[in-house]
Amino acid sequence: MVRLAVHSDINRILRIGSSAESDESKRGLIERAIDRGGCLVALDDEIVVGYAIMNHDFFDRGFVSLIYVEPAHRRRKVGSSLFDECESQCKSDRIFTSANKSNLPMQGFLVSREYVLSGTVQNLDDGDPELFYSKELR
Ligand SMILES: CC(C)(COP(=O)(O)OP(=O)(O)OC[C@H]1O[C@@H](n2cnc3c(N)ncnc32)[C@H](O)[C@@H]1OP(=O)(O)O)[C@@H](O)C(=O)NCCC(=O)NCCS
Repeated sequence: MVRLAVHSDINRILRIGSSAESDESKRGLIERAIDRGGCLVALDDEIVVGYAIMNHDFFDRGFVSLIYVEPAHRRRKVGSSLFDECESQCKSDRIFTSANKSNLPMQGFLVSREYVLSGTVQNLDDGDPELFYSKELR
């Protein structure tokens, strides 16, 4: 089941997943996403097993800036359920997201959902370009 995240989910979201960011900066990111209705959680038996963050700040297009599925729950369509909901909430005709060039699982996931490469941005992460993908929704 996927639903909008609420503030009481924050600690459960922080508990899953590792991140390059500190807990404090990640907490701020998630709080702001929840405040603007842009954070989704996937639940399995009431337990948060994944989340996604989406906004419309990217050239006024829907942009999924973050998705994370707890490792033990991967390849069980949790990511697919989160992306289904992002796509259905997207207000633009085309939805965007991105992945590091080194992130082959995310690229496999996006290609399986018929996302296409829209461009590459260098100099975000050292030596690991950011690949931007998109998909026409309607
Ligand atoms: C990428 C990610 C979100 C996928 O979530 P998931 O719940 O495992 O994905 P699903 O089970 O919905 O996968 C759907 C399809 O995507 C493709 N896919 C998913 N993971 C894949 C992988 N590791 N390699 C290749 N293809 C993959 C497959 O076609 C899969 O269907 P199948 O399992 O029937 O073969 C998950 O691996 C993850 O959280 N990774 C770490 C966080 C991350 O890198 N986020 C992206 C940057 S923000």
